[in-house]
Amino acid sequence: MKTFFASRRRLATAGLLLAGFAVLSSQQTAAPKKGLKDYYKDYFPVGVAVGRAQLQGPEAALIKQQFNSVTPENAMKMGPLHPEENRYFWADADAIVDFAQANKLRVRGHNLLWHEQTPRWLFKNADGSRVSKDVLLKRLHDHIFTVVKRYQGKIYAWDVVNEAIADNPQEFLRNSEWYQICGDEFIAKAFEYAHEADPKAQLFYNDYNTERPEKRERIFKLLKQLKDAKVPIDGVGLQGHWSLQEPTEPELRAALDQYASLGLKVQITELDVSIYPWEKDRRAKRPDESDAYTPELARQQAAQYKMFFRVFRDYKKVLTGVTFWNVSDKYSWLDTYPVAGRKNYPLLFDQNQQPKQAFWEVVQF
Ligand code: G3I
Repeated sequence: MKTFFASRRRLATAGLLLAGFAVLSSQQTAAPKKGLKDYYKDYFPVGVAVGRAQLQGPEAALIKQQFNSVTPENAMKMGPLHPEENRYFWADADAIVDFAQANKLRVRGHNLLWHEQTPRWLFKNADGSRVSKDVLLKRLHDHIFTVVKRYQGKIYAWDVVNEAIADNPQEFLRNSEWYQICGDEFIAKAFEYAHEADPKAQLFYNDYNTERPEKRERIFKLLKQLKDAKVPIDGVGLQGHWSLQEPTEPELRAALDQYASLGLKVQITELDVSIYPWEKDRRAKRPDESDAYTPELARQQAAQYKMFFRVFRDYKKVLTGVTFWNVSDKYSWLDTYPVAGRKNYPLLFDQNQQPKQAFWEVVQF
């Protein structure tokens, strides 16, 4: 008798498990009926970084279905947008803004000042010597006025200054050409010029590794200095180039608490979850380096994404946007960084624009 009931129980349990698995796997192979933007409509806009190449075909369809905000991945950076002092290249940036307008997507502008992707002419006089602080600030002013005014009313938020904090924990500001020529003044000036050009645009400072405690303190110090000096800054962008290893939940919560304590809006501006540990220095690919996206990596990544979005929902009063850096695993900047020839799989959609396990974890709450 006992054996009869025990085996019936075992059968019932197996049945339940199978049914559960069937529900999960049918859901995981199904196309999502709603977009991330719909699941999160009571929380925050969900955005994605795009280039012109993604504005047509299956990726464009996915963008329209899933997101309600876009950020130009490269098109609005000073190098591509302003290649010569008296020449702007608007075609790519305009195409993205037009696509957004046509499809009722918000646009985050990225970015007005960065140490990377700067045009060659920017820091030099005609004779090749280095420009003075006055000349550089005038160039910055003219650039910001031209760009911000062109998209006034179409771009609701700008990353005004990107990555001004040094990588070396012993230093405060990055020793960039901006810093070498202007000292720390370029930061406040960039915000002032942007505010003057479009008083309604929300202005952000944007950086990476913003949850690592020592860098968090240095970023906090900069933001506090700007707030105390009444510089027109509205928020801080946490890029969110994260991995299976970091940040931990306590680190993420501590960062959101600390930045929000300044009364700033917080956005996650460049989210992706690398399957490799974070590294900065470019290097050659090692012969033994596998780039297989194993089921175990997919599981760990889904668990990370699940945790991140649980925390984001808890901070709905502080977080005013979450943007992914690239559309699907078909193309990620991490495919070539910091090692070329090694594929990464950091997003919620696979190489065929199908939702991954991580997608379902993010939308089930
Ligand atoms: O446009 C040129 C093209 O003319 C040339 O033929 C080609 C050859 O390599 O390069 C093209 O430029 C590349 C550019 O992306 C556009 O595709 C650059 O080499 C490449 O370095 C550049 O990478 C971008 C990177 O910023 C620059 O540092 C990535 O796409 C972009 O995703 C990345 O984005 C940054 C954020 O702006 C700030 N936070 C970090 C994030 C990731 O690095």
